[in-house]
Amino acid sequence: MSDIATVLFTEKEIRQRVRELGEEITGDYAGRFPVLVTVLKGAVLFLADLFREVDLPLRVDFMSISPYGRDSEEAGGVVRIMKDLDQDIGGEHVLVVEDIVDTGLTLSYLLTTLWARQPLSIEVCTLLDKSVRRIPNVDIRYRGFDCPDEFVVGYGLDHAERYRNIPAILAVEDRSDLGERGEAFDDVMAASATERPVGS
Ligand code: IMP
Ligand code: MG
Repeated sequence: MSDIATVLFTEKEIRQRVRELGEEITGDYAGRFPVLVTVLKGAVLFLADLFREVDLPLRVDFMSISPYGRDSEEAGGVVRIMKDLDQDIGGEHVLVVEDIVDTGLTLSYLLTTLWARQPLSIEVCTLLDKSVRRIPNVDIRYRGFDCPDEFVVGYGLDHAERYRNIPAILAVEDRSDLGERGEAFDDVMAASATERPVGS
């Protein structure tokens, strides 16, 4: 076990849950052609696994956004679009694929932006829902796991752009232990291979 990070969701648990979400989405969207809109970069691993579990002729598209300020709370959720979608979503069924919804400020702003393009519908699928920190009310149709109010890394989620390639999702007690250049990578990687401690 590592002092720095503890496993919240193992690789196996993630795989299983993603499969269930894929089946649910396949059923709900039967007969339709959804566009999966993914926000770079955290959600790319989730998207890659999820969309292979959805048995429909779907499209994927990507957006990159960045908060005006250090984080979404400072920015009040107002974000700058760094890379916009390649395709028009007017008249389409949109499914937004997110890695984590924390305060929900970013997502809420994004949804307003997407609704202005007149899609037929928008739903949200997030791998992690850190609902205790939620500020605006956002409707989340599909959620992988409820996430405790802790800082998490792995399976796409980063600290200073590192740790995204850790296969499990881990909670980090003190973010500064992670370093700015991924100094604790070996430790976190080793911890990711362990099972969750019994009783937690
Ligand atoms: P929100 O606007 O507060 O919901 O911010 C969501 C964004 O903050 C996510 O898309 C992540 O990029 C980032 N974020 C929030 N919580 C965590 C975390 O625990 N680990 C890594 N990134 C996080
Ligand atoms: Mg993100």
